[in-house]
Amino acid sequence: MIKIAVIGLGYMGQGHVRVLSSLSEVDIVAVCDKDFQKTEKISKQYRVKPYRNFKKLLKEEELDAISICLPTSLHFIVASNAAKKGIALFIEKPICSNSKEAKKLIELARFKKTPIMVGHIERFNPVVNEIKQRIKLGELGRILQIHTQRFSPPPARAFDVSAVVDLATHDIDIIQYLLDQKPVRIYAETDNKAHRKEDLMAAILRFKNGVIGLVEVSWLHPTKIRRLTVLGENGMYVADYITQELFFYRQNENLFRKNNISPTTPITQADIVKIAFQAKEPLEIELESFIQELLSGAKMSVTAEDGLVALTLAEKMINSGTFHKVLK
Ligand SMILES: NC(=O)c1ccc[n+]([C@@H]2O[C@H](COP(=O)([O-])OP(=O)(O)OC[C@H]3O[C@@H](n4cnc5c(N)ncnc54)[C@H](O)[C@@H]3O)[C@@H](O)[C@H]2O)c1
Repeated sequence: MIKIAVIGLGYMGQGHVRVLSSLSEVDIVAVCDKDFQKTEKISKQYRVKPYRNFKKLLKEEELDAISICLPTSLHFIVASNAAKKGIALFIEKPICSNSKEAKKLIELARFKKTPIMVGHIERFNPVVNEIKQRIKLGELGRILQIHTQRFSPPPARAFDVSAVVDLATHDIDIIQYLLDQKPVRIYAETDNKAHRKEDLMAAILRFKNGVIGLVEVSWLHPTKIRRLTVLGENGMYVADYITQELFFYRQNENLFRKNNISPTTPITQADIVKIAFQAKEPLEIELESFIQELLSGAKMSVTAEDGLVALTLAEKMINSGTFHKVLK
């Protein structure tokens, strides 16, 4: 059994408690939130010990792991206190509020041999893995472009980090996951129209293998959109991260035949296929993986280093947007 505590009982934390409580290898021993009403409600519902102070919790409980679902600016302090005690960490994304903190935490965790998983939840989204498998099988051919769009109204949580750090880290991680490549150039346009930090961004990336990446995030849109489009030589996948719907638009087969396309050649739309696969809640798959990897001692499927890569690239996008520079 993995003895775990969930720290932070807001939107994500309550989801963690719900999912973890359904796993047979997990014993949730305690929950913690500074908000008394939340700790009362959740501790009664799940019959676990309530804490309002994370230091007291770490001091009093014998834990194998904690799940950190606090505002991002608190990830570092809580994670480093737990890592010092050798407690395994699940940290909601982004790993920390900046790469300096993330590097310090990684160093400490290495020294203490503390496993860390970062909650880049889209890695466990069945729609992403369906695309990854199909790319591997060669259905798409060579990848030409990946475009991500993550738009919503402002979320109901602290604006302690920008929308770039909060949202783009998801998609940067997914692009890296699909391509297994680092970008060679990044350019971004950012704005902060309604928040102190960036709340609107469009970034262009170029990868070593020639793929073009487009990452768009916003906290200004009046509706929630989470879209992933992967264009390849043989067609295009269009995925909705939320509904887990996936379409494949077959490419016009003449497009890449030299001299076959002229301004007078009509390019008719080819087949559009809706791909069927098993949908599942990504949080369930993610936390199951964390627990299984802890039990087996296997490498975490999303490491702290992965979290640092996503955060570092998000910071480059912010720098590019601030100084109007193309960055390497
Ligand atoms: N993986 C995802 O898709 C996803 C989605 C949303 C949020 N997140 C991440 O999860 C984290 C939490 O986001 P959220 O939306 O759940 O936020 P939230 O505001 O709903 O929850 C945060 C909770 O932390 C508590 N808290 C704040 N300071 C505290 C302290 N000092 N001690 C104890 N409790 C404290 C608050 O009372 C609140 O209940 C953030 O890092 C966010 O980026 C991830």
